[in-house]
Amino acid sequence: MSGAPLLDVDGLSIAFDAASGGAPAVDELSLTIRPGETLALVGESGCGKSTTALALMGLLDTRRTRVSANRLSFDGTDLSRLPEASWRRLRGGSIGMIFQDPLAALNPVRTVGRQIGEALSLHRGLTGRAARSETLELLRQVGIPEPARRIDDYPHRLSGGMRQRVLIAMALAGQPRLLIADEPTTALDVTIQAQILALLGSLQQQTGMALLLITHDLGIVGQLAHRVAVMYAGRKIEERPVHELFDDPRHPYTQRLLAARPRRSAARERLTEIPGAVPAPGAVAGGCAFAPRCEFAHAVCRDAVPAWRPLGEGGMRCVRDTRAVGDHVNDRRSHAA
Ligand SMILES: Nc1ncnc2c1ncn2[C@@H]1O[C@H](COP(=O)(O)OP(=O)(O)OP(=O)(O)O)[C@@H](O)[C@H]1O
Ligand SMILES: [Mg+2]
Repeated sequence: MSGAPLLDVDGLSIAFDAASGGAPAVDELSLTIRPGETLALVGESGCGKSTTALALMGLLDTRRTRVSANRLSFDGTDLSRLPEASWRRLRGGSIGMIFQDPLAALNPVRTVGRQIGEALSLHRGLTGRAARSETLELLRQVGIPEPARRIDDYPHRLSGGMRQRVLIAMALAGQPRLLIADEPTTALDVTIQAQILALLGSLQQQTGMALLLITHDLGIVGQLAHRVAVMYAGRKIEERPVHELFDDPRHPYTQRLLAARPRRSAARERLTEIPGAVPAPGAVAGGCAFAPRCEFAHAVCRDAVPAWRPLGEGGMRCVRDTRAVGDHVNDRRSHAA
């Protein structure tokens, strides 16, 4: 996947004024996503994933939040100076979004059809019969059985998985070029999770949209992501093509996250959780924020934030490991010899 990025974020920092004395919740984050590509943004609770997503959708309260970036560009448009009227066209239009809790995101007193119809009217100017037939088509596309019956249902009549499909249909109504999915399957049980992820994958193939998949669960990214960016305490600490990351994770935090990921084949297996928790923005220690939880940390880790070090098609932020990509293969060969 080559060509100009659709989303191009460089040096994004976000601080909430009220909390933590203005310490950044997101610190100098850079991300790119090309058309048709899936980038997974992963990390434990509180590392800044949703805050990043909200900034990309212009949903942070600008009176209480300081956002700065060297570049914040979507499809050539500078998002950092976009007036609210333009955001309203973009949001739910070229940038679609789905969240964790489908019930909270749906209006309980409006039928499913009406809510999708509103998105069609707002972003594509479709009304009346044209909107209704497009709504039926969208419901079919997201795999809702008997769309002609479901279109006039209220959200509470649908199961959690079906509601999430409705939200995906609403997002698709705007023909997004980028879909931001923040924990899209966390509220669903494991079988339904897999179905929703498979649906997102096939919709992406049909439409060519790019996907930013936000999750704390590395177990679900292998199925969908091309690249994975790992965040810790507001900073990106590793980013790699998905197979490289799974095969040869380099940052100690990534290694621990991978070891802690739930495996479908062993759902009841006890997870090796990472002891401790992500520090709140005001409580981040100097140097590498993961050092207090890192078994390999030494003095130099606490002195300064490790520089971003390119590694193959990605990079990482740790002083410890200086091997190049591919070295581990040679390691294995020499072990085998
Ligand atoms: N509106 C806010 N005001 C003050 N602090 C906030 C606000 N929103 C988030 N934070 C803080 O910013 C940090 C990052 O939060 P964020 O919700 O982005 O994390 P996350 O990675 O999405 O976590 P989770 O996996 O739990 O969804 C947290 O320490 C959180 O408490
Ligand atoms: Mg979140």
